[in-house]
Amino acid sequence: QQAHLTIDPAFRVAPVRRRTFGGFVEHLGRCVYTGIYEPGHPTADADGFRRDVLDLTRELGVSTIRYPGGNFVSGYRWEDGIGPKQDRPRRLDLAWHSTETNEVGVDEFVLWCRKAGVEPMMAVNLGTRGIPEALDLLEYCNHPSGTTLSDLRVAHGAKEPHDIRMWCLGNELDGPWQTGHKTAREYGRLAAETARAMRMIDPGLELVACGSSGSGMPTFGEWEATVLEETYDVVDLISCHAYYQEKDGDLGSFLACSTDMDYFIRSVVATADHVGAKLKSRKRIDISFDEWNIWYQSRFQAAAPGSDWPVAPPLLEDHYHLADAVAFGGLLISLLRNSDRVTAASLAQLVNVIAPIMTEPGGRAWRQPTFHPFAQASRYAAGDVLRVEPVSPLYDSAQYGEVPLLHAVATRSDEGVTVFAVNRAVDGPLSLELDARGLRITSATTLTDPDVYARNTADDPDRVSPRPNENVEQDPMRVLLPPVSWNVIHLS
Ligand code: AHR
Repeated sequence: QQAHLTIDPAFRVAPVRRRTFGGFVEHLGRCVYTGIYEPGHPTADADGFRRDVLDLTRELGVSTIRYPGGNFVSGYRWEDGIGPKQDRPRRLDLAWHSTETNEVGVDEFVLWCRKAGVEPMMAVNLGTRGIPEALDLLEYCNHPSGTTLSDLRVAHGAKEPHDIRMWCLGNELDGPWQTGHKTAREYGRLAAETARAMRMIDPGLELVACGSSGSGMPTFGEWEATVLEETYDVVDLISCHAYYQEKDGDLGSFLACSTDMDYFIRSVVATADHVGAKLKSRKRIDISFDEWNIWYQSRFQAAAPGSDWPVAPPLLEDHYHLADAVAFGGLLISLLRNSDRVTAASLAQLVNVIAPIMTEPGGRAWRQPTFHPFAQASRYAAGDVLRVEPVSPLYDSAQYGEVPLLHAVATRSDEGVTVFAVNRAVDGPLSLELDARGLRITSATTLTDPDVYARNTADDPDRVSPRPNENVEQDPMRVLLPPVSWNVIHLS
């Protein structure tokens, strides 16, 4: 089968946004404890952070990290996580039926971010709390000094303000599972009033209102419209969350799951622009896609009421395979293709919990197959995103109807052009012809495996990793994309 792609530098979508490559650390399972933080681990530094995880985080190329949740934030008291560790309370975490020891809180998180070279992005609790607690947290974090809360931060060792620019106004309040679940009107009012008050402390904050927890939510569309009617003037972004998995062995649909992400983005942009038009506003609301990933939610069993409340139990530890990484690559391509309106995104999550990085408590850390598309896209997507309109054979998918075998995007900088391409075909390679006048292919890699369900393990950590693609021709320029593969092609 053959596909064709024309690359024209004139067709620019938007700059590549570094925040597209954000991640997420939630107090959930082993993401924080035995994930980023494990005093006593052979690689732990003086602050208890695992150096092996810090190294992999830097290699992943993650730009921002959202914290502390997720569902967790909707019951969280941020003050529990500051001050001397021995005085911090242990609390029930209703979201994940766990015990939270509070050994890590906002100061440790920001310290970890500085070490990892990432920007912190903070969520406030609008589930069980409201305006005063959000203001207190903001003052504690960002006010230089001279008030009780800012001086407390200084006394805790953080002389300089944390200077957190991006703030999420709650998490998934549209979901009935959320502690403090609200109607769109209730949430919209609370988010607007919280945002207005936060801007009185710092008008320059970038604020994210909660959108829908998925495009399949019964309130999807109406939720965004109502929330934005209330918050339009005081927020900058609205969130989208989406998780995908292979269902009932339908690999064809799964590999095309970015079709839903595209629909989700289009619908939220249309809704936001509609509200803007009704309000006669010249302002534009962009999207923070601040939870996205492959997640086998059907395998997740919520703890039974009355059962134990363990500390940092192994939860949501999906072990990804090649097909997951290829579907994941397709989602990354969609985020990049929509860079004109998706200006931030967070891969959920970073370590152990539906994560690109896995760890053993006290032991090894390794890269899941999904690590690689993320790390390559973060490293090589540079300059501008170019609009490409691939000409590709189609296939029939049970979930999305006819979809192209090829899903692709290109970016262009002074270094040259990079094409990111997924071949969704399960039964054969795809010959991709590139039309890019004056350019030559300088290198190509592919992430594939004869077994689409091949995984990486601590004992075999590199089974699924990118390898050079030697099936390249220059005149005309052609690259053979193996079946079920993620590909990176450099031209200059
Ligand atoms: O990322 C896991 C969970 O998924 C988050 O806590 C929640 O916001 C979403 O439902």
